[in-house]
Amino acid sequence: MASYNNNFTDELRERLSIVDVVGRRVPLTKKGLNYWGCCPFHNEKTPSFSVNEQKGFYHCFGCGEHGDIISFTMKTNHMEFRDALQELANLAGIKMPDYRPKPAAQVAREESYTSISETAAKIFQSQLMTDAGAAALNYIRGRGFSDEMIKKYRIGYAPRGNIIANKFTNTKQDAVIATGLCRRGDYGLYDFFRDKLMFPIMNPAGAVVAFSGRSMDGSEPKYINTTDTEMFHKRKTIFGLNFARDAIYRAGRSIVVEGQIDAIQMQCNGFPETVAPLGTALTEDHIAILCKLNRNIIFCFDGDNAGKKAAARACGLILPFVRDTSDVRFAFVTGGKDPDEVLKTGGADAMRQIIDGATSLVDFLWELANTAYVTSTPGGRAQAEKFLKKETEKITDDALRREYDAEYRNRIFHTWRRVKKTDAAAAPVPNVDEITAKTLRGLIDAHPELAERYGEFLATLNISFDGPMSCQNFDLAAAEKFIVSLKLKKYIQRLHDDRKNLVGQLLAGDTDARDKITAIDAEIEKSNARMELLAADA
Ligand code: UTP
Ligand code: MN
Repeated sequence: MASYNNNFTDELRERLSIVDVVGRRVPLTKKGLNYWGCCPFHNEKTPSFSVNEQKGFYHCFGCGEHGDIISFTMKTNHMEFRDALQELANLAGIKMPDYRPKPAAQVAREESYTSISETAAKIFQSQLMTDAGAAALNYIRGRGFSDEMIKKYRIGYAPRGNIIANKFTNTKQDAVIATGLCRRGDYGLYDFFRDKLMFPIMNPAGAVVAFSGRSMDGSEPKYINTTDTEMFHKRKTIFGLNFARDAIYRAGRSIVVEGQIDAIQMQCNGFPETVAPLGTALTEDHIAILCKLNRNIIFCFDGDNAGKKAAARACGLILPFVRDTSDVRFAFVTGGKDPDEVLKTGGADAMRQIIDGATSLVDFLWELANTAYVTSTPGGRAQAEKFLKKETEKITDDALRREYDAEYRNRIFHTWRRVKKTDAAAAPVPNVDEITAKTLRGLIDAHPELAERYGEFLATLNISFDGPMSCQNFDLAAAEKFIVSLKLKKYIQRLHDDRKNLVGQLLAGDTDARDKITAIDAEIEKSNARMELLAADA
């Protein structure tokens, strides 16, 4: 039994959540870090059977039974080891490989693989501190990496030439080539990474399995990564997971960003639960691994087209994994920035605002349907409806799927088939520009009592009051006037927006809109007059 292909049992443990496996037989409730239920192995009325998701173990404090998903399946189904694996493979939706022990040769290969990769990581790290690495060191410091971060993430430098090939002249060439660090040329081995800033890629246990090298002279491609090897599969590797694992448990969620530098900066600036895929779009395997840790995920992608596409892809992939308790959200970093740049310019607060403003899965899918299809035409609506149906069908949790279905039916009816109702109160107030934001921060800093009086309005501006402020020598009355006139300006803006919507409705044949427009026009006129009055006694 011990000689059974360990990769496969590991894969099962990686793919399946013990809470899900046990939860199919034993109702469980979460209390503290563990899940609890009545022990299936002895008779009891009060739960003393605990399941630890993090460790992948169950333990009964009553009868002492304990084990993992495999022993649980064997014992509760009275199955042999192999049949339990088959049962779990079915549950995970993966194919069971042929039964065979791991050959000794493979074990040896894996050992030499990890030791070569580890040695290479050390060489790159020490190269960063030499004259040859000075430019790279300078570069990474310029990107906001402290010495501590350089050490923790084992940042290094691969010099020009064949430093790795030359180091391993006494090692079997095949073993060195297997790591992806060297390739075979006409004159022997040569290094794959040259003149690159090096990021080691670690497996969840922290062992170096591959590298990502960044060019520093602007040459393309920006990053080159170890091509897939026996020990490294891009589609299954999540950058930063070895560091983020515990934080993901503690935070009860993970954050997924696009780039590895983004992930590192997030981890070091208040979001230790952040990870990134590596040199590839997100895959189903990535999602399965993350969902095993926690089904609450915030995808935080760049606001460009590539980021939107990545989010749409993530959305399609995550649906089979969502449960009624999952909280899956999508956030976008706008303005051509990425999380690294947001952290640099606005700090953790700016990032927190983006994360907190993330769109829920149900809304994001709806937005996708509305942006991908022209819902003002019957054909477009039909396509959008089919899209929503197809996506919703991916949800495996029956009750949840029905809820999504009902929700979209409802939205289709109220939003597409009927003239839109505008809800003035809910219309979003646009954010203010940075100068206004700075002024407001300065005013509130000087006159905190205004924060209380105008708190509700200030909250609608979606600005953080911790950011940079400009010093203004406004006395209280002038400060108050600044806020009141801003408030009035926003109100007038909103009236104009409402008016625009009403004109649209009128054109669409809604004659009721005419009276509303007349009323809004009167309100706009009144507000403009108030605005003039405010300006006059300045
Ligand atoms: P980006 O182009 O967004 O780069 O690619 P970045 O993360 O902002 O990089 P910096 O900040 O300029 O250093 C996102 C991710 O896609 C992969 C890398 O993993 C990168 O972090 N990538 C990108 C590649 O693998 N190869 C490339 O040539 C570019
Ligand atoms: Mn970047």
